[in-house]
Amino acid sequence: MEKVAEKIAIGSDHGGFELKERLKVVLAEAGCVITDVGCPSPAAVDYPDIAQALLRILASGACQHGILICGTGIGMSIAANRDRRFRAALCHDEYTARMSREHNDANILCLGARVIGAGVAEGIVRTWLTTTFAGGRHQMRIDKMRG
Ligand code: RB5
Repeated sequence: MEKVAEKIAIGSDHGGFELKERLKVVLAEAGCVITDVGCPSPAAVDYPDIAQALLRILASGACQHGILICGTGIGMSIAANRDRRFRAALCHDEYTARMSREHNDANILCLGARVIGAGVAEGIVRTWLTTTFAGGRHQMRIDKMRG
């Protein structure tokens, strides 16, 4: 991955643990400073607890972006989008990853470890971290979701 000087938080439940550990290596090689909010092992945990831990890190300003992984990515995206300050996007390919940044200014990437392979996940993360928000009409649309 090209170098991206990002402070990034990452978290998973047991369904995403293995992929989280793999992506941490990829992110570190790309120059990211990583905050791992858990889970610390493949033992079962509840995804809302992990999502809330990651939201707290982003709200504190300690990290700019977050990655949340569970079996499908669905639970994590539902949990993360309960906080209206953030926009979590569940992406299954590089196209949705790019659009979630360009059009939706997503600040949290959700992945389904039982849906996509590790190679696809790496491509998604690479695209997501290197794509910037297009602004303009897209900002206006995002503003309509506030409040
Ligand atoms: C855990 O078995 C599974 O339900 C979880 O990882 C996730 O897919 C929930 O949305």
